[in-house]
Amino acid sequence: MAFRGEIRVPGDKSISHRAILVNAAAGGEWRVRNLLEGEDVLRSLELVKRVGVSVKRERGDYILTSPGRFALKEPDDIIDAGNSGTTVRIGAGLLASVRGLSVVTGDRYLRKRPMLRVVEPLRRMGALVLGRGGGEFLPLAIEGRSLSGIEYESPVASAQVKSCVLLAGLSSNVPVRVREPVNSRDHTERLMKAMGARVEVSGTSVALKDSSSVKPVDVDVPGDFSSAAFFIGGALVTPDSEIVVRDVLLNPHRTGFLSVVSRMGGDVKVENVREQSGEPVGDIIVRYSPDLRGTVVEESEIPSLIDEVPILSVVAVFAGGVTEIRGAGELRVKESDRIRAMCSNLRLFGVTVEEKPDGMVIQGGGGTVTPERVSSFGDHRVVMSLEILSRALGKEVQVDDTTSVRTSFPTFYDILRSVYS
Ligand code: S3P
Repeated sequence: MAFRGEIRVPGDKSISHRAILVNAAAGGEWRVRNLLEGEDVLRSLELVKRVGVSVKRERGDYILTSPGRFALKEPDDIIDAGNSGTTVRIGAGLLASVRGLSVVTGDRYLRKRPMLRVVEPLRRMGALVLGRGGGEFLPLAIEGRSLSGIEYESPVASAQVKSCVLLAGLSSNVPVRVREPVNSRDHTERLMKAMGARVEVSGTSVALKDSSSVKPVDVDVPGDFSSAAFFIGGALVTPDSEIVVRDVLLNPHRTGFLSVVSRMGGDVKVENVREQSGEPVGDIIVRYSPDLRGTVVEESEIPSLIDEVPILSVVAVFAGGVTEIRGAGELRVKESDRIRAMCSNLRLFGVTVEEKPDGMVIQGGGGTVTPERVSSFGDHRVVMSLEILSRALGKEVQVDDTTSVRTSFPTFYDILRSVYS
């Protein structure tokens, strides 16, 4: 049994959210091709519909029309973001300028995730935001108004925080600057530039200088690198495997996983690189790599592979020696506590792994035990990592609840069936 064949993965989740939420602040019509039709992105579509954006689906494309930032209307009901942190955190940047009251909630996982990181800068811009725990937890109630500009120093490297502040600035047509400890993914900046905003990037700081004449832009969404990573990981560690992933996003702020597996000795090649909707896109060719070596992943690399740590921990099981992941405390507040989720599941497979407050140390060469059941922790990326691990080991393992996969990668099992045999 091996991973073999040529695949395309669904549209990138981060770019899909932005193609909806950021464009919605500008008046006019735009088309989104290859939008990810995962639950999380559908929640962002729901959010913009509630504030008056019209959404049509035409032969697989989405056509949206917004009345523009100063004509968005008060939502007539509570907005349910489901499991989607991106919908809430970036969406809050839009809602903070929409006149009237917006109330946002989410599922039981999202209601435990920290929101002050966006509430705080929005309050400093003059927004009135209330929430459980002083604004830390959903539901949030936002009374929209005309905001003031801000120079914000974010304590976390988070594209959601950065994008929230940038979108709040664009929605109120005021200048903002955000500085973060390490650069996070830059899709919002790229899109805002394409929309006609003046955006200046210098080191770890991004400034929205002027957005007075923005227009929505069509977006052709590339394949999601974070979805591709599961199959890249599976092919690297399973004998006889070779896969090609076509038309996938290659934004350097997203492909840290490729750099790390390459230095571990992984056979990965990138071809046919081109630009699509202002983002680098290409094909990735991966072959089984029997001589993988453990590595140390440093804090500065984490933002570029933040969502790939679960599958990276699976790759580490097949590497000689030890792999250490450092400075990844943010993983504790993702869809689940991904450090705990991966450490406890890897142990069930007989892997020696040490859990650290901000990372993990994985001893390669484990995976000698077949657990009957492993736990998803309600987290899509944990489920997909465990499915790949059990196939790479040639074991049949049951994951307790796989429904979360539809949030980011609804066709995961179809693609898995098509490449793994
Ligand atoms: C995302 C940013 C990351 C990532 C999430 C999507 C985005 O979160 O983990 O899956 O689209 O901006 P943070 O910005 O909170 O690190």
